[in-house]
Amino acid sequence: MSRFYPDSKVEIQGLSARFYDNLLNVASLGAYSRFIKKAIRLMEIKPEDTILDFGAGTGRNALLMQKYISPEGKILGLEISEEMITQFKRKTEEFANVNVMDQRIDLPFSLKEKYDKVFISFVFHGFPYEIQRNILENAFQALKDGGEFIMLDFNEFVTDETPLYFRIPFKTVECRYAFEYVERNWKEIMSEFGFKEFTQQLFFHDHLRLLKAKR
Ligand SMILES: C[S@@+](CC[C@H](N)C(=O)[O-])C[C@H]1O[C@@H](n2cnc3c(N)ncnc32)[C@H](O)[C@@H]1O
Repeated sequence: MSRFYPDSKVEIQGLSARFYDNLLNVASLGAYSRFIKKAIRLMEIKPEDTILDFGAGTGRNALLMQKYISPEGKILGLEISEEMITQFKRKTEEFANVNVMDQRIDLPFSLKEKYDKVFISFVFHGFPYEIQRNILENAFQALKDGGEFIMLDFNEFVTDETPLYFRIPFKTVECRYAFEYVERNWKEIMSEFGFKEFTQQLFFHDHLRLLKAKR
């Protein structure tokens, strides 16, 4: 399958997709596992929440979110990679209220219902700016009034001012869209779409951020 955005690094395919969780665990020496559990706890999921997971990946995050919802709540992952969808289904098969759908998040789409939360984790930075704006619009449209958009991703920073231990891997691994993403003011941009009441938590010497915004 060819990539929609050839310069992007978030359209993960083949072996990288198949071993995505293990690669993250090994590359971070186990730190990622602790971090993602903490970030998902900080989402403050309520038992009856309905949650959309944009670019849901292997289902690892959905499985962590599932622990906080009751049978009245539900999680729907939107994903395009066959390898990821297969893993998501396998991981979450015992939970009837956790599902995944083959759906692009970068083009306009509409779902039958509105959701309490839209979560997007390490996906957003990997798209061209105009496409990121489409994703914000899609998130806004998918939320109930008062619903929350929750973005886990890089924080905003000037790359050349970050310490070398971060800058070198960041510049080596990430794509040009990520370099542009980190230097934009996302609260200001998200406000243009109607998002408000921003709150954030920072991690790993402020290089990562959990950003919440209300619709
Ligand atoms: C870096 S991974 C992150 C996966 C997951 N959110 C996580 O935090 O583990 C990016 C994911 O976004 C998915 N993705 C990329 N482009 C997408 C698109 N246009 N629509 C939906 N999913 C997409 C990829 O297939 C991949 O699973």
